[in-house]
Amino acid sequence: MLELPPLSLYIHIPWCVKKCPYCDFNSHEAQSDIPESDYVDILCQDFDRDYGFCNGRPLQSIFIGGGTPSLFSAKSFEKILSHIQANASLSTDCEITLEANPGTAEADKFSDYFNAGINRLSIGIQSFDERQLKNLGRIHSAHESKKAIDFARSAGFENFNLDLMHGLPGQNVNDALNDLQTAISFDPLHISWYQLTIEPNTVFYARPPTLPEEPVLNSLEDAGLTLFESSGYQRYEISAFSKEGRHSRHNVNYWEFGDYLGIGAGAHGKITLAETNAIVRTQKHRQPNHYLSKSIQSDLKKTEILQDERAIEFLMNALRSRHGFSESLFESRTGLPFSAIGKKVEYLIAGGLLQKIDDRIAASDKGYRLLNSLLQEFL
Ligand SMILES: C[S@@+](CC[C@H](N)C(=O)[O-])C[C@H]1O[C@@H](n2cnc3c(N)ncnc32)[C@H](O)[C@@H]1O
Ligand code: SF4
Repeated sequence: MLELPPLSLYIHIPWCVKKCPYCDFNSHEAQSDIPESDYVDILCQDFDRDYGFCNGRPLQSIFIGGGTPSLFSAKSFEKILSHIQANASLSTDCEITLEANPGTAEADKFSDYFNAGINRLSIGIQSFDERQLKNLGRIHSAHESKKAIDFARSAGFENFNLDLMHGLPGQNVNDALNDLQTAISFDPLHISWYQLTIEPNTVFYARPPTLPEEPVLNSLEDAGLTLFESSGYQRYEISAFSKEGRHSRHNVNYWEFGDYLGIGAGAHGKITLAETNAIVRTQKHRQPNHYLSKSIQSDLKKTEILQDERAIEFLMNALRSRHGFSESLFESRTGLPFSAIGKKVEYLIAGGLLQKIDDRIAASDKGYRLLNSLLQEFL
């Protein structure tokens, strides 16, 4: 039986000072003044329309991502958050994260974000190595990154995440460990550690840099995982590491196939509709100018996740999590009986790609390394 899952909200801010050569996110170099105030107004309308499909469920997390949300003023976020508070229900301990770039960090701005109700920051450090920052086309220095982390803490953010990338051009194991060690020295509750991937439609795709060879990438990953473990961080998803119990509630909701509204240019969402027992995906206009000019009152574009797509959609999310999923979670989130995947799960447990820990089914270490092939088994 399909149940209404927990609800999150993603808010997309699509502008950056400069486009990074590896980035395929929906982010656009701000050519002139950003139409911040108009965008905030449209975001509020966008929210109202989507929230109308949610049967008054409380929001349990909000993530403001980009792009570079820290280009916006605290006043703008205060306006959005008070609009949401006035028109929707928020859980009392709602996690509210804002993505911030070190180059746009100012001590006052961080304090104002905190006072506006943001209670978690995610800071895009990428590397503390000046040479790598240059390779990555970043507009901040390592010194600015360190200052941004200090600003975050002194502004009151006890809960912050640092984004780091590894497998960077010419990087060796020691370089990557130095970056990680520096990040850990700031004692963040959460670190996201992404391996650099070369994405289509990026400058790196057109002119690829020389990346470390496979054996270096493997040793680098093994050494990083060991350092995380010995420093008290648990890996709870492929790229996510946190102190005990301090995982990102927003991300966990994605991995448990929860519902989320996506508002802003290019944002996508997933909503379970109680009346029709349907699960739908939503997608907004990608180009900021197009998004701003379209009347938000026009029909929301919804694509249904059909019955026979639900199991694989669920597994693509749930198997990313180290904790996997229970049979009852599978049934309540997909509306399908566990028997729909039961035989395949048994087969993969016997083959050592899945494992059962108490009542949860998760990828084994081997299955985690071969996640794409593991998922293919369910197609
Ligand atoms: C939405 S993005 C950007 C956030 C923020 N604007 C910034 O640049 O710091 C979130 C994170 O994804 C990671 N990321 C972006 N592109 C990537 C790529 N091609 N390969 C691996 N990680 C990537 C970066 O660590 C980045 O901080
Ligand atoms: S600042 Fe972040 S979102 Fe913007 S282009 Fe660079 S990586 Fe992409």
